[in-house]
Amino acid sequence: MNKLNHPKSSTGPSRVDGRLKVTGAAKYSAEYELAGLVYGVLVGSTITKGVIKSIDTQKALRAPGVLAVITHFNTPVVPGYVPEKGKPEPEKSPLRVFYDDKIVFNGQPIALVIAETFERAQFAGSLVKAEYTEDKHITRLTDHLDNGFTPGEMFGMTPEYSRGTVAAWNTAPVKLEQEYIIPSEVHNPMELHACIARWDAENKFTVWTKTQGVKETQNELAAFFKLPPENIQVNSKFVGGAFGSALQVWSHEVAAVIGAKVVKRPVKLVLSRQDMFTSVGYRPHTWQKIGIGATADGKLVGITHNAVGQTSAYEDFAEFPTGVSRYLYACPNVDTHYKIVSLNVGSPIWMRGPGEATGTFALESAIDELSYQLNIDPIELRMKNYAETDPQSNKPYSSKFLNEAYKMGADHIGWSDRSPKPGAVTKDGWLVGYGVSGGVFGADREPATVKATMMADGMLVLQTAVSDIGPGTGTAMVAIAAETMGIPAEKVRFDLGDSSYPNAPQQGGSTIASSVGSAVYMACTDLKEKFQQLIGNGGKDHPDYVKVLKEHKLDKLEVVTDSKAGSEVDKYQMYSWSVHFVVVHVHPATGVVKVDKVACVADSGRIISPKTARSQVIGGAVMGIGMALTEEAVYDHRYGRLVNSNFGDYHVPVNADIPQIEALFVNKPDPIINPIGAKGMGEISLIGMAAAVANAVYNATGKRIRTLPITPDKLV
Ligand code: MOS
Repeated sequence: MNKLNHPKSSTGPSRVDGRLKVTGAAKYSAEYELAGLVYGVLVGSTITKGVIKSIDTQKALRAPGVLAVITHFNTPVVPGYVPEKGKPEPEKSPLRVFYDDKIVFNGQPIALVIAETFERAQFAGSLVKAEYTEDKHITRLTDHLDNGFTPGEMFGMTPEYSRGTVAAWNTAPVKLEQEYIIPSEVHNPMELHACIARWDAENKFTVWTKTQGVKETQNELAAFFKLPPENIQVNSKFVGGAFGSALQVWSHEVAAVIGAKVVKRPVKLVLSRQDMFTSVGYRPHTWQKIGIGATADGKLVGITHNAVGQTSAYEDFAEFPTGVSRYLYACPNVDTHYKIVSLNVGSPIWMRGPGEATGTFALESAIDELSYQLNIDPIELRMKNYAETDPQSNKPYSSKFLNEAYKMGADHIGWSDRSPKPGAVTKDGWLVGYGVSGGVFGADREPATVKATMMADGMLVLQTAVSDIGPGTGTAMVAIAAETMGIPAEKVRFDLGDSSYPNAPQQGGSTIASSVGSAVYMACTDLKEKFQQLIGNGGKDHPDYVKVLKEHKLDKLEVVTDSKAGSEVDKYQMYSWSVHFVVVHVHPATGVVKVDKVACVADSGRIISPKTARSQVIGGAVMGIGMALTEEAVYDHRYGRLVNSNFGDYHVPVNADIPQIEALFVNKPDPIINPIGAKGMGEISLIGMAAAVANAVYNATGKRIRTLPITPDKLV
């Protein structure tokens, strides 16, 4: 079973940027050496709520090599922070760094120290001392579940939803009601968030920054600095992981731009690992309660799903964890509510599978609990309530092969070896348990534009302003272009991460394969058509491009192609699906959980790049094991401060925690969503994984852990 390099899933081309990455030749945002570069370090608030009375910057300013100390007392005004004339101060907004004297969370930046070297900036930062008037803070979500408020609509999702009869679940022959809690989890990509800012003229600047969308960063910075977007150049050629943390402009980026203006030199600002826990978002601590009712033979009668998540005091972040209960199963009566609570913490942000990862932990745990109550196999229970059309919109699916995914995964993991009786199987003194969970995430196609140029030497150059945060976007796009043009992959270059390229969406929400992949395919199709026009009728499908250019005395041939979704989005409901199977071993005396086997199956349309798709699924499974077993941002609520903001205390899984993970693919093209048949995979590779682990732990031990992470203390 545990064969390395599974032959079916590891074939296909390797990463186009793999050699650059493993040899250190790939340049990440913090690695650019600019003339006159100086270093910025942020100083954070030591209180959690209150007002700054004074900041003593004198010692810092006298320290060697220090060029400036910027605080709200002396900063140039960020024009976009100030309300328009006659308008009141906004009640909520993204954090306005150095704007005023108010402190709303611990670690909030209060000063930026700029010095000739990083070490000198860091030392001078330690000399900055502030005095505060302190107010009482609140940071513990579970003390304030009744203080939630309903967030506004987002992406067409309303927090309140009902179909059928609200209380139906409660009157069903078999019912359960349980609470599930996930702690705050932090993205913690390997690459630290970093930004280099350089002013190129009075009203023009360039940033090299970690971002999932160079165009979004350009537009957000343009709004902050009230400049035309084209005056701002955003570069993000390589991104060392992000998972959602780089989907918006954060205050350290604005601070770097302000700093560069003040010292008239390029400023590099790299967040510390500790800052990464407070300054670039996280998956919000969320409480959920699920009620499910079913008939004795396992037909769902009703589901009710309530969720309360935390947000900051300055922004209303919402992610809709209850959505999944509306559409994962065919169920006539569904009622969901979602509220958020303002706390003195930094703002959360999207984190891989936002909403669904949290909601699925609750729903798929509850479905598993129901299966034991009914004494029906968990897969059989899911098949009995399989949705053939979307239960929320009643539209047909563009494609859904989730049942095949269940079968593939069950065969692979050896599901038939599972005992339906918890705690019944042991091996070498360890309890053995099997768990399963489904996963789902919306499959979208965003507008994207690609410029495709065939050069005289036969090199095809593709350009679009997308980021590649790690899934292997460049590799997949090269594969599509090579196949469409009928040329070897070595003859294709994919340029990305530059805001001057044609428009592309942010790399978020699992949309890039579908969106940019379609644009690449269509641009290549257009380019071929242009060659056909040159040749005249009857030309070969894949002509000798070099020869044709030469014959027509052209040094290149170029197209710019726009691509976007059409009316199919009104007629069909589109999702990617996944299934996760897990076998765990639990030590009965110590409560240690070892994940023994994992098989994940993705139903995400056609698989374009098998090797990178496999990596994507394995990465999601690893992240899900962290979510299930180890990850938790821990606050000391007396001080409102995070106490484990480092990798020594915040545990992400390491190699020794991870068994061989099998990534399997249904690999059937979606005939509707786009011309290439591919759907996203970034989110579904995580969504459901934590529930699968929790369900396996129950099967092993008979202990149902509803509060993540499942640490040994909860099992003994
Ligand atoms: Mo994501 S949360 O789609 O980076």
